[in-house]
Amino acid sequence: MAARVKALVAGNWKMNGVKASKKEVAALARKLAAAKKKPACDVLVCPPATLISTLKEAAKGTKVAIGGQDCHAKESGAHTGDIAAEMLKDAGAAYVIVGHSERRADHGETDAVVKAKAEAAHRAGLTAIVCVGETEAERDAGQTLKVIKGQLKGSLPDGASARTTVIAYEPVWAIGTGRTPTPDDVAKVHGAIRKALEARFGGEGAKMRILYGGSVKPSNAAELMSVPNVNGALVGGASLKAEDFWGIISAYL
Ligand code: 13P
Repeated sequence: MAARVKALVAGNWKMNGVKASKKEVAALARKLAAAKKKPACDVLVCPPATLISTLKEAAKGTKVAIGGQDCHAKESGAHTGDIAAEMLKDAGAAYVIVGHSERRADHGETDAVVKAKAEAAHRAGLTAIVCVGETEAERDAGQTLKVIKGQLKGSLPDGASARTTVIAYEPVWAIGTGRTPTPDDVAKVHGAIRKALEARFGGEGAKMRILYGGSVKPSNAAELMSVPNVNGALVGGASLKAEDFWGIISAYL
């Protein structure tokens, strides 16, 4: 019997948004407040670090949580341009995404680096959203599950719990492409992730949220979110506008 897990719908704004974008968070909060039936999921927006405090202010008193998109492993020091998990927390973040495929590809982040960042998130009292996902070449070579299991093993800290850690499965080839795996394929990967989490973390692994990410839209959210072991979504492009993001959150109404 699968553990009962409260879903999380998270928006990753990537390198998009300026102060005026707070109107989207305000609109989202209004939709949440006005909904007769409340969605059975937590709602999170991860803007660029420059907007965390602005959005936190805009989301004050609402059910919308705010998070960062990356952090440094260290608490402070000579690391020009980097941001510590403690700084994100100080600015109002409750979560931070680590190991996104764009960080892995653009900044050469290894599993060991991602693990150190997840540990930093935990140290700062943030929930880490640890991303994994195969490339198209890996998928074509039949390596998907092997790649995912390796990333989980290398990227997750030993002390991870359901409260401090969320997994996001994002097939690299599905990000920003409009292509998604079939529900059967998503079920296979999420099932394998659940098994690996349970084997390593026991009861905590049974409760950890496993998000699907990659071209989630209002039109496909209900189908993807109903797949076994899918406990929410990590949404890029469709999280930028409150209307679209609400359309995805509505899968949990
Ligand atoms: P898209 O929803 O734009 O495909 O992006 C997914 C993603 O990378 C979220 O982290």
